[in-house]
Amino acid sequence: MPDPEIRSPLPIARSLDAGSARSERRLLRVQAISGSIFLLFTLVHLANTGIAALGVEAYSDYQHAARRFYQHPLGELGLMAAPLVVHAGAAIARLRRSGLRGRNRRLRSRLHRLSGYFLLVVIGGHVAATRGPSLLAGVDVGFGAISYTFLWMPYWFYPYYTALALAGLYHGLNGALVAASVFGLRVPQALRGGPAFWLAWAGAAGAVVIGLLAFGGALYAVPDPRANDYARFMIELTGGR
Ligand code: HEM
Repeated sequence: MPDPEIRSPLPIARSLDAGSARSERRLLRVQAISGSIFLLFTLVHLANTGIAALGVEAYSDYQHAARRFYQHPLGELGLMAAPLVVHAGAAIARLRRSGLRGRNRRLRSRLHRLSGYFLLVVIGGHVAATRGPSLLAGVDVGFGAISYTFLWMPYWFYPYYTALALAGLYHGLNGALVAASVFGLRVPQALRGGPAFWLAWAGAAGAVVIGLLAFGGALYAVPDPRANDYARFMIELTGGR
């Protein structure tokens, strides 16, 4: 029987004094709830990237439909921004109090922390670069925006978006299992320690990476990456090509 990788982190709180253990448990629950809500947005969002493999129109149709939910003021605040800030805040509070003391050292837990640190570092810049232009200047951040970034700085943006997708999927899928155990739900053994988790992650990651290739024109001919509002906005802002 494979060694279970996913265990509820609640028992770790027992190594702390009574007050700290209570607040650790509370923070874990807050993290599990906020992370589960933000995961809904992440899955919808990464599915959009994967759908780019089916064509520019499929990507844009899906994006316009999904924006009705994630750019609606209530959706953007309640299902995206607030859960993201609360989730990151709870992670920082837990780190500041106990650092890595007593934390699970298994591979899946280590990767969960590493992907979390990576996302924590890049997420502010990602949101500013993608949502900022539309909020500040009414610029549409559509298919052409990603095509333009790949043309502008391919050596930076291909690895960056690939890492963002792999880390987001890993942290989200593994996090959902940790959250399930925090809520006291039974996680099937195949997902806790068996290959099913890795198959699910690799399948989803593969689909998103294939979608990324589409923006650069590797799957079909794409519209001129410089002929869109986002490209014009960035060229003016950075003096780039
Ligand atoms: C394949 C990798 C990714 C690509 C190509 C990508 C691309 C984009 C684009 C184009 C937008 C603008 C969306 C719009 O205007 O409709 C956006 C927004 C955003 N992305 Fe990503 N993204 C990726 C991964 C991620 C991941 C992994 C996360 C979270 C962990 C994330 C979080 C966000 C957030 C919070 C917004 C702002 C949403 C809003 O308020 O409109 N992205 N991204």
